Amino acid sequence: MKIFKKTDGESNVINGLPRHIAIILDGNGRWAQKKGMPRTAGHSYGAENFRTISKYCKEIGIKYLTVYAFSTENWKRPKAEVDAIMNLLEKYLLEAIEKMENDRIKLKFLGDMSVLSPKLQKMISEVEEISSRYDGVQANICLNYGSRDEIVKAAIRYAEDYKATGKALNEEEFSRYLYSCDIPDPDLVIRPSGEYRLSNFLMWQSAYSELYFTEVLWPDFTPEELDKALESYSHRKRLYGGLRK
Ligand code: FPP
Repeated sequence: MKIFKKTDGESNVINGLPRHIAIILDGNGRWAQKKGMPRTAGHSYGAENFRTISKYCKEIGIKYLTVYAFSTENWKRPKAEVDAIMNLLEKYLLEAIEKMENDRIKLKFLGDMSVLSPKLQKMISEVEEISSRYDGVQANICLNYGSRDEIVKAAIRYAEDYKATGKALNEEEFSRYLYSCDIPDPDLVIRPSGEYRLSNFLMWQSAYSELYFTEVLWPDFTPEELDKALESYSHRKRLYGGLRK
């Protein structure tokens, strides 16, 4: 494990650790198929790897980790695969409740939860409530999440408030209507599995994020792979539209 200089928590110092890392959990299906296993086995390893990477983030001092677990478009997959992912989430949440005191990871869910099963919704509220007291890493799981959907829902809610209050809109104000309202923008967005696109993930929030792509499939994305991404991030110069000095 490499040691990276920590940021002061507020700024994103060059060569320091990102405060917020976002990851698209991609490649589970291919990983399983390569090993002659059903795709759902890949999701199961993928969920386990999320726990490993969350713990590693906590260990090295990352404040926020956001993962894309299920998109608003993933409902198009075969019902058996969707059901398997939802069952896995239930299993994950049950284990999270059991291991909560040990892991001490704050879990939050971003997305439209209203279409999930009542059982899953209840478990999500429970996990969010119990883990809200932990202040190590905050792990955000994007579930039934899509950036376009998030932005449209935010615009509708803003329009309602505008009618009532006439409140003016700017970028900062609009951000408060997003699922991510109390989370800083990601400094680093990682996509494993050799795909080079954002796929409707945190499109508003990643306007100035650094991007990192790797061929490694998510279940094989070990803490050492995260170190490689952090190493790459540590050499980036973040300009936010300003001039290179
Ligand atoms: C993308 O890989 C992965 C998904 C659509 C599902 C991810 C879900 C989990 C890991 C389970 C629950 C997650 C958590 C965080 C508890 P893919 O199936 O598109 O892979 P492929 O591109 O190789 O087919």
